[in-house]
Amino acid sequence: MDLVFATNNAGKLSEAQDIVKNHKIISLKDINCFDDLPETHETIFENAEEKAMYLWDKYHLNCFSDDTGLEVEALNGAPGVYSARYAGQQKNPEDNMRLLLENLKCEDNRKARFHTEVVLILDGKIYHFEGYVNGIITREKRGNQGFGYDPIFQPEGYKITMAEMTADEKNKISHRGMALKKMGKFLLDY
Ligand code: IMP
Repeated sequence: MDLVFATNNAGKLSEAQDIVKNHKIISLKDINCFDDLPETHETIFENAEEKAMYLWDKYHLNCFSDDTGLEVEALNGAPGVYSARYAGQQKNPEDNMRLLLENLKCEDNRKARFHTEVVLILDGKIYHFEGYVNGIITREKRGNQGFGYDPIFQPEGYKITMAEMTADEKNKISHRGMALKKMGKFLLDY
């Protein structure tokens, strides 16, 4: 079957297609959806669910969506659902990292995790898969691969940040990969 992924991000689409081998993953563009999908909630799960339900309600197509946040223990889970716009609506990763490092300047507890929720809707039924990667926030940026907070996130068991990893290395351990793999396993029966 065709499964709409609520994104036009080429990296996310190819990561999902590599994992879900028995179905065809298509993008928002492929179904002529040019809407700004709503993300109005205060939790990562609700935002992912909202995007998938928007697509199901409007198009009645089998679909899934993802939403991710960086949760920092010493900041009670912030930036969390606000990760993309932590330093403002300009959604600038450099500004976000600068603000996060500033807010943790005097903090010794550097523990953090990436948290992804994937919500799948098949024939109107909702399924949910989650993925996490634990790590720490470094004191300065290192590396120039990846995106978002990668230069200041060092996964547990590694001495390098996610921005110092190759895309393959990162995909193997990533939060989104973990959630997508759970969905992929579930979809083997469909
Ligand atoms: P999204 O839900 O995938 O759009 O992610 C929301 C925000 O979380 C992004 O804008 C990034 O700031 C951050 N983020 C998500 N995934 C990653 C990642 O793999 N590395 C670094 N930052 C990420």
